Amino acid sequence: MKNIRVGIVGLGRLGYHHAQDLMFRIPQAELVAACSVIPEELEKVRTWGLENVYTDYSEMIKNANLEAVVIVSSSGAHAEQIIEAMDAGIHVFSEKPMGVTLEECEKVEKCVELHPDLKFQLGFMRRFDASYMAAKAKVDAGELGKPFLFKSTSNDPLATIDGFLGYAPHSGGPWLDMAVHDIDLALWFLGGEVESVYAIGGGYLYPELEKIGCADNACALLKFKDGAMAQMHVGYSSPHGYQVETEIFGEGENIRISAVPAKNRLQTYNREGVLVECDESWPYRFNEAFFNEKVAFLNCIINDTIPIAGAKDGTATTKVALAATKAFETGEVVHI
Ligand code: NAI
Repeated sequence: MKNIRVGIVGLGRLGYHHAQDLMFRIPQAELVAACSVIPEELEKVRTWGLENVYTDYSEMIKNANLEAVVIVSSSGAHAEQIIEAMDAGIHVFSEKPMGVTLEECEKVEKCVELHPDLKFQLGFMRRFDASYMAAKAKVDAGELGKPFLFKSTSNDPLATIDGFLGYAPHSGGPWLDMAVHDIDLALWFLGGEVESVYAIGGGYLYPELEKIGCADNACALLKFKDGAMAQMHVGYSSPHGYQVETEIFGEGENIRISAVPAKNRLQTYNREGVLVECDESWPYRFNEAFFNEKVAFLNCIINDTIPIAGAKDGTATTKVALAATKAFETGEVVHI
């Protein structure tokens, strides 16, 4: 099997997880370089024998002789780093969001068009989760009839709220930070384009978030051009663990994914009822999806095929996320 020479930028909460996959679990990848602005994070990957480490992304792009780069840096750095890599002839996998403004997304789209020989994939890992893949196959086979309603909830655990309170001012708000996944799924399952968005939310548990224009829980209602609807709730304060739940209603039947976010099949029967342990956070729930999405990206390079989550999806989701942010800020319905 061909090994692709991969570099990674960002070794934080998610980057370290991606780096471990690339180093130890994915046969198609040879992790040859890593970059982080935090030197202690580089020390951790050096213990794996990875000596080629950088604090400067441009240096890695210039000197590490990469075929592909995995971008897991802070959201505001993605667009610039994608463009720099592709202009240097390197395939790119980037975490979401593709850009934090529409101008950034348009620049990335243009760059991707300019390099048709290079692969670009965006980290919408839910598309690579077994349950979501099975749901998509049912929808595409017409088993639900025409889907007309997408409902979802995405909740980070209360146990990690301190981390969120720290990065909330730079998160881009709940729509860009978290709901982009739900928006991507709504577009993926329902097809078509969003016509208008209404969004509300607040600092119900952490009022200080409202002072910085953020929220710990927020909801949005999307109307599609063909009349289909999407309804979503995102939050950072789930008491029982990490929960991502989705329902899709069709003319014929409905489907539901992860109504109970069970960590495993253990159930405890006692005086309190039937207890099920829940997923603690996203690396547990989407462990396989994070793995599968990188394998799919590397296979696209090896087999010269097109990634299923690309630049157009990045622009479409950011556009809706920014409209939801505006609706949340103004209290108005925002037409796209
Ligand atoms: P983090 O704050 O824990 O880590 C950020 C990392 O990026 C650090 O290693 C830092 O040194 C590096 N970095 C930032 N700017 C840089 C620059 N200009 N040059 C080089 N290195 C730079 O962040 P976290 O939580 O790991 O998130 C990273 C990205 O992954 C974010 O864009 C986030 O939206 C996305 N993410 C996606 C998830 C998903 O479900 N797909 C889950 C969590 C995060």
